Amino acid sequence: MQTRPMTTARNAARPFLKWAGGKRQLLPQLRRFYPERFGAYHEPFLGSGAVFFDLAAAGRLRGRRVRLTDVNADLIGCWLQVRDAPEAVMERLRALESGYNAAPAEHYYRVRDEEFNPARSCIPRRADAYTPDLAAMLIYLNRTGYNGLFRLNSRGMFNVPRGRYVNPRICDADNLGRVAATLSDLAVEIDYQPYRQVLHSAGRGDFIYFDPPYAPLSATARFTSYTAGGFTSADQRQLQQVVVELAERGCHVLLSNSTAPEVTELYDENREALRVGIRAHKVAARRAINSAAARRGAIMEYAITNMPERAA
Ligand SMILES: C[S@@+](CC[C@H](N)C(=O)[O-])C[C@H]1O[C@@H](n2cnc3c(N)ncnc32)[C@H](O)[C@@H]1O
Repeated sequence: MQTRPMTTARNAARPFLKWAGGKRQLLPQLRRFYPERFGAYHEPFLGSGAVFFDLAAAGRLRGRRVRLTDVNADLIGCWLQVRDAPEAVMERLRALESGYNAAPAEHYYRVRDEEFNPARSCIPRRADAYTPDLAAMLIYLNRTGYNGLFRLNSRGMFNVPRGRYVNPRICDADNLGRVAATLSDLAVEIDYQPYRQVLHSAGRGDFIYFDPPYAPLSATARFTSYTAGGFTSADQRQLQQVVVELAERGCHVLLSNSTAPEVTELYDENREALRVGIRAHKVAARRAINSAAARRGAIMEYAITNMPERAA
């Protein structure tokens, strides 16, 4: 087997997608709760995988089983193609970049409406059937579309308008190469499945990082763009039961969420959660996706875990 030089933090792979609720800015806060020792690593709300890349950059995943899963089929299809066919993805992405640079708006809408949407609606089991072409188009639309959003209309068509970027970086071949190498070197398992399946794969001593769509701070703030269905209060309650069950099993659990009253009730003021050693820590965060720049600023979020806090 070919061996590659070990990655150092400086040339480590970074997330290759922008994702609503991406956790890059929260990493310094989350790191304080990573377990010192653990078995397998599971990330069941994958998105752009900021915590996965952080652990990989620190060399914390070497020799471990790593399982990354999500219910966004396009997202998982794209991750699979970057892992398995990086050269083909990059080749197509370079061509998309040239087309965009020649006529940005015209190219964006042509790719979205005449190539991406027709191609993705032809494949029934979308994640497994994704192609390098579709993966490259998804990365392209993510880099050039409005705020990196992934949003489908009621007919299941991707309908995000073009973003207002000057010279967006569309094909970062160096990083994509590093991502592909990291995924294959670590033999990372990537699957399209709901988070609850982690109950069937996680065992004592494993580390599970949960980053669900956040509970809304107000009734009007519910952000439902991740999937057509959204993540309801009932989903938040079911997730709490899964987190409690895994903590009881002896897993190391870490969960990010908003400081909405329903989250406080589920984790900070909840007898079951306290009984299994779960504590809800308030940490300062900065929201990454917000339409009004003026509203960007420090807000508090929860880091919920059964692990002791370590010095930063
Ligand atoms: C807040 S984002 C995760 C962001 C990620 N931590 C990052 O750094 O980019 C939440 C993710 O959960 C996924 N999701 C929503 N409902 C889910 C479910 N029931 N099971 C698994 N994943 C789900 C969404 O597709 C989305 O990618």
